[in-house]
Amino acid sequence: MTINYKDYIASVPDFPEPGIIYRDISPLMADGKAYAAATDELVAYAKDKQVEMVVGPEARGFIVGCPVAYKLGVGFAPARKKGKLPRPTVSASYDLEYGSETLYLHKDAVKPGQRVLVVDDLLATGGTISATIALVEKLGGIVVGTAFIVELEDLHGRDKLKGYDMMTLTTYK
Ligand code: PRP
Repeated sequence: MTINYKDYIASVPDFPEPGIIYRDISPLMADGKAYAAATDELVAYAKDKQVEMVVGPEARGFIVGCPVAYKLGVGFAPARKKGKLPRPTVSASYDLEYGSETLYLHKDAVKPGQRVLVVDDLLATGGTISATIALVEKLGGIVVGTAFIVELEDLHGRDKLKGYDMMTLTTYK
């Protein structure tokens, strides 16, 4: 099915703060055909990359990454925020507009040399995805691709992904 993903992304002005337009993928997730089409397109991107594991950051990276992992026939590992993972972890921090955030991955989530696809719903400044990549690489994983539903071009997250293969389904300025 060929779809215009923007038809399924709600643009919400002034959320979470004045001046920000929030790109909400929940209408896409709520539509079975659109969700499947997005998943299939991400899977097609990954198909020839010999992916062995999918990793996605909390929380919407789970929504996008899990069905992709299922269809690829590989596992999924969640990169989580502080205090969520019960066993030994590695961590990586990234800057927010004010302060910083840290993501964690179980130490046994990725094996050395494993080929990993990193997936999230949206690429903005690239901080989240860079931290997720750093987690995978700390464990010796090889990031063979990065995939997103939405890219916010003007925030230049793509610049942080130089040297990594990447794809997005739709972009906004
Ligand atoms: C959003 C989005 C991405 C990230 C992109 O997640 O789902 O993960 O921001 O922004 P960046 O490229 O500037 O890092 P958020 O931090 O809001 O977490 P959530 O999914 O748990 O709501």
